[in-house]
Amino acid sequence: MEDKYFIEGGTRLNGSVCISGSKNASLPLLAASLLTEDKCVLKGIPKLLDTCNMMKMLSGLGAQISNQGGQVTIQTREVQESGQLYQYARKMRASFLLLGPLLVRTGEVCLPLPGGCAIGNRPVDLHLKGLTALGAEFAVEKGHIKASAKHLIGNEVSLDYRSVGATENIMMAAAAAEGCTTILNAAAEPEIVDLGNFLNKMGAKVTGAGTSCIRIEGAPDLCGVIHTVIPDRIEAGTYLIAAAAAGGQVCVQRVIPDHLKLVIEKLRQAGVPVEEGPGELVVYPTEELRPLQITTEPYPGFPTDMQPQFAALLTTAAGESTIKETVFENRFLYTEHLRRMGSHITVNGTTAKIRGVERLFPTQVKATDLRAGAALVIAALKTPGKTEIGGVYHLDRGYENLEEKLSSLGARIRRVSDRAVNL
Ligand code: UD1
Repeated sequence: MEDKYFIEGGTRLNGSVCISGSKNASLPLLAASLLTEDKCVLKGIPKLLDTCNMMKMLSGLGAQISNQGGQVTIQTREVQESGQLYQYARKMRASFLLLGPLLVRTGEVCLPLPGGCAIGNRPVDLHLKGLTALGAEFAVEKGHIKASAKHLIGNEVSLDYRSVGATENIMMAAAAAEGCTTILNAAAEPEIVDLGNFLNKMGAKVTGAGTSCIRIEGAPDLCGVIHTVIPDRIEAGTYLIAAAAAGGQVCVQRVIPDHLKLVIEKLRQAGVPVEEGPGELVVYPTEELRPLQITTEPYPGFPTDMQPQFAALLTTAAGESTIKETVFENRFLYTEHLRRMGSHITVNGTTAKIRGVERLFPTQVKATDLRAGAALVIAALKTPGKTEIGGVYHLDRGYENLEEKLSSLGARIRRVSDRAVNL
């Protein structure tokens, strides 16, 4: 049974919306709590399918977890695998973030090769390369990775690509390794900085997080910490675009505008007025939507997690836009569904060309992954008539209280379970 959204679009959005804690920061922070036997308190963990699955994996490993409205208290006195880990790890690529912490705690790990969004083949070679440099050994057997490390020792690791997950796994293992680790060509995303701050509070010495060279001095006994998760820049960007697409004046609150520099710049280039205030961004209605040229890159470049939402916005721009995807090789599956709504999009390899049309038409579409789902919601919000969006569980992975937040801005959105639709 699958839930659907029905969105009656064509009405402006107005009001304020408060952004939740970052999904992509929460997942490594939850994994990093395994590095200590002490209690960790994480404030602002969003209630999402991905964070819930990560917590289920942790409790399957012996963690005691309580969650009071997003304040998660977590303590793993002893790691004991109950079998629950595998059930969830297959579904979620971020389960691989447990590799570094588990090597630290137990010296031996067996994890399924990870699943995740249908946005291409996503290997884990860089995670393994980095952890191997720290002294881990790996064997791949029937879809599983067996890892062991008697003793982790700091080293220099040069990544061939600025992988977010690999940088995080290496940082977590290095935080408890003997000596100093340097990661060259490291990812510089704000979520990496958040993890660095968390590891510093635990007792490791991390410098350079947020640049391409991160230095981590390990500590033998990492301790428990209290930490507040940074706001979700991708959720914030999605609401900015939803407001720009539907028109109206929307204040997006609890954001760090610095984390959204390129997104704001691209919106302004498209003719969407965006005003920055302390911890908030206000979007105003645009006179005419202009086309854009976008190339996705690792941070501080344009985020790949925002390209489908921009594509949805640009379907009605006055002219031809180009989106070049350089991070994932297969991230245009959603364009088929935007085409069903009447948009003119052609995809050639890793480049999509979008010729703006007057308007889209409501029909039945389906989310193929998390951000694809966000793009379809944006397209539906600006399209008069009733659009039906399937595959809503993808959106549950990354948008906390989506229908409540959009409804509070005046959107007409309804969630219906498949069984109810068929009645
Ligand atoms: C993270 C984010 C995801 C975002 C992505 C890029 C989380 C939980 N997810 O995913 O939302 O879209 O960053 O900003 O934070 N690669 C390899 N070998 C590796 C690792 C990665 O070739 O060992 C490739 C991947 O196939 C992909 C690219 O590098 O093409 C980027 O992957 P990576 O930065 O690792 O993304 P994730 O950490 O999986």
